[in-house]
Amino acid sequence: MSATNVTTPAKKVTTFGFGQMKQNGEKISMLTSYDYTMARIVDEAGIDAILVGDSASNVMAGHDTTLPITLDQMIYHGASVARAVKRALVVVDMPFGTYQGDSKLALSSAIRIMKETGADALKLEGGEEILESIHRILSAGIPIMGHLGLTPQSIHKFGTYTVRAKEEAEAEKLLRDAHLLEEAGCFAIVLEKIPAVLAERVAKELTIPIIGIGAGHGVDGQVLVAHDMLGMTNGFSPRFLRRYAHLYEEISGAVGEYIKDVKSSDFPNEKEQY
Ligand code: KIV
Repeated sequence: MSATNVTTPAKKVTTFGFGQMKQNGEKISMLTSYDYTMARIVDEAGIDAILVGDSASNVMAGHDTTLPITLDQMIYHGASVARAVKRALVVVDMPFGTYQGDSKLALSSAIRIMKETGADALKLEGGEEILESIHRILSAGIPIMGHLGLTPQSIHKFGTYTVRAKEEAEAEKLLRDAHLLEEAGCFAIVLEKIPAVLAERVAKELTIPIIGIGAGHGVDGQVLVAHDMLGMTNGFSPRFLRRYAHLYEEISGAVGEYIKDVKSSDFPNEKEQY
């Protein structure tokens, strides 16, 4: 399918539709949102999927890592987004500590998110280590998007946010994990910050869609943190990030104008009062 031949149907995007997009060669667009107002703009602009990422921990709450965000907080963000969205597939991240090492806890956390947010699917970080949780959640009919490569919930194991799977052993494990996730029944996988050649290989070997972030263009779709691509987080400039707006400067300029107008009594004027 050529880039000019992309269809943006009005109907709701489903996990099934995700697979069809890969089969049809249509790239999948995905962005994060954590609140109603942003999700509404992003959905109405025609995005295919919205990720309520646990990056809310950094972007919304100012934490250094994604580890502190809680299940209740993710449910709050997920429900706010789901209320706004009419078309995009809504995927909510399961937060750190709610699914690793205990598949019963994983299922009850997953059910809470699905019941209380109205989301369409969940995303979990990891491969073989969390397979039991994945099987149990899937057995309840809850769709799962996997996440391999740089998995920020494991930052204390990695010690750095640098590119993953550059060495052969880690690349082989990632490939194995990707196949395990597909065999288990995940409907898609996010690959974060890995060599483009490896990501392309995964996308070619698997039939489910592979969504990349810092994983090159040989995959089936792309995801970015909306606040980063809109230029609201101006201190963060990884190589993979393309900025489509410079909202930090825009907002800062607008706030400066407002302050000036308040201080000079220019705002409000006669027409702006009752
Ligand atoms: O939490 C998040 O925003 C994510 C993306 C970076 C893929 O997991």
